[in-house]
Amino acid sequence: DGRQPVIAGNWKMNGRMPGATATIADLAARLATRPGAACAVVICPPAPLLPVLREILGANSRIALGGQDCHAGTSGAHTGDVAAEMLADAGAAYCIVGHSERRADHGEDDRSVAAKAVAAHRAGLTAIVCVGETLAEREAGRALDIVAGQLDGSLPDGATPANTIIAYEPVWAIGTGRTPTTDDVAAMHRHMRAHIAKRDAALGDCRLLYGGSVKAANAAELMAVADVDGALVGGASLAVDDFWPIIETCL
Ligand code: G3H
Repeated sequence: DGRQPVIAGNWKMNGRMPGATATIADLAARLATRPGAACAVVICPPAPLLPVLREILGANSRIALGGQDCHAGTSGAHTGDVAAEMLADAGAAYCIVGHSERRADHGEDDRSVAAKAVAAHRAGLTAIVCVGETLAEREAGRALDIVAGQLDGSLPDGATPANTIIAYEPVWAIGTGRTPTTDDVAAMHRHMRAHIAKRDAALGDCRLLYGGSVKAANAAELMAVADVDGALVGGASLAVDDFWPIIETCL
């Protein structure tokens, strides 16, 4: 299919000094033993860690950095928020938008997620746009429709395969140890690709990541599913011994 796989680690609100620097240095050293561009590796740490991790990695590292969220604006009276441009200044090349924890904890809806994706693009960042159904929605047989609606609302005009990655994360699989069957993942990813291609044929080439309880024991099976172009990993991205075998499935 020609799409470069992406393994992205979302540290969420985890990572303190000096452990975070040791982790990134260890990961960089392991990747240095496996040259080549088979797979893009992205780490999305808490924003305050971006500059220090950037410094350790150097400008041309195999590991790219990303933010976990951004504000839609460039500057202004928005206490606690961070602009996409600031993430870029701090060394990020990616930004997650619309993670279910942001949608749930901060009331973000598809419209605000789309605005954040536009901001990421404006700042030259690749947006990792997250979608996914709740358990109730899946049990009601509505998962495909819910995700299609989230894609319609959260993907902005101007999204392309170069500036946008989509992560399918069933809310009930995040941090729970539960995962959908590979058949369900295949059906969802096929449906997502067809849906975005209907809107714009070029969009059909976007990388589609699976996220939700990805770990060493299930990564190879999930990464082998058709239309899965990588993973968005939470808990198992925090320790290199857990994360490395997941990266290795795509090297
Ligand atoms: O962004 C990552 C996802 O929310 C998955 O988290 O791997 O801890 O289930 P998890």
